[in-house]
Amino acid sequence: MANSGVFISFEGIDGAGKSTHIEGLAEAFRAQGRVVTLTREPGGTPLAEKLRAIVLNDTMDAMTEALLVFAARRDHLQQCIEPALARGEVVLCDRFTDATFAYQGYGRGFDRQVLSVLERWVQALPGLPEQALRQPDLTIWFDLNAELAARRLVGARHPDKFEAQPLEFFRRVVAGYAARAAEFPKRFARIDAAASREAVWQDVLDAVKSRGWLA
Ligand code: TMP
Repeated sequence: MANSGVFISFEGIDGAGKSTHIEGLAEAFRAQGRVVTLTREPGGTPLAEKLRAIVLNDTMDAMTEALLVFAARRDHLQQCIEPALARGEVVLCDRFTDATFAYQGYGRGFDRQVLSVLERWVQALPGLPEQALRQPDLTIWFDLNAELAARRLVGARHPDKFEAQPLEFFRRVVAGYAARAAEFPKRFARIDAAASREAVWQDVLDAVKSRGWLA
């Protein structure tokens, strides 16, 4: 029987430590014969990567930021995510729309109702049932408090526009993720990102295995 596509997003504040686990999960899926599309937001297509560079480096108001990340998302969905899911692949995406709610909505204080409207426009796609939006099948949320994340980021690469934000901004972003997780409890798997790397990896595996996608 052909595999059906699986869409998993990874969320958390900067410094929460998602990256190595995303790579590890890609390897685990490949080891079981699945084709994996590893991608990220903003980005994932040539156009969306150009928008990413602008969003991460240029100063702009929160609405402009929201419009650009959703423009990037539309292109990413159409050019990359939807075709990969149609081919039955596993799509592992470093951040998706929850990041827009957390960063632009809660972090920057932008109107979340407007974000919901943009979400409905951008994530309704040909081939999906009427009213249905493309959403991840699972969102793995690396939950870490802002203080610990900031300590982990000290001495790391040159910070981009978001990484350079004050602690208070990241406290709001964490609250934003918590609110999204409470709103969508079935889709979210919360992982304690303050735990050891091994414990975090085990939790990531458990979240995926409990859904039957990995043996
Ligand atoms: P990262 O890929 O290194 O995590 O960087 C992406 C940055 O962009 C991160 O600081 C979060 C931010 N971001 C938003 O502000 N809104 C969004 O919708 C997305 C996807 C990311």
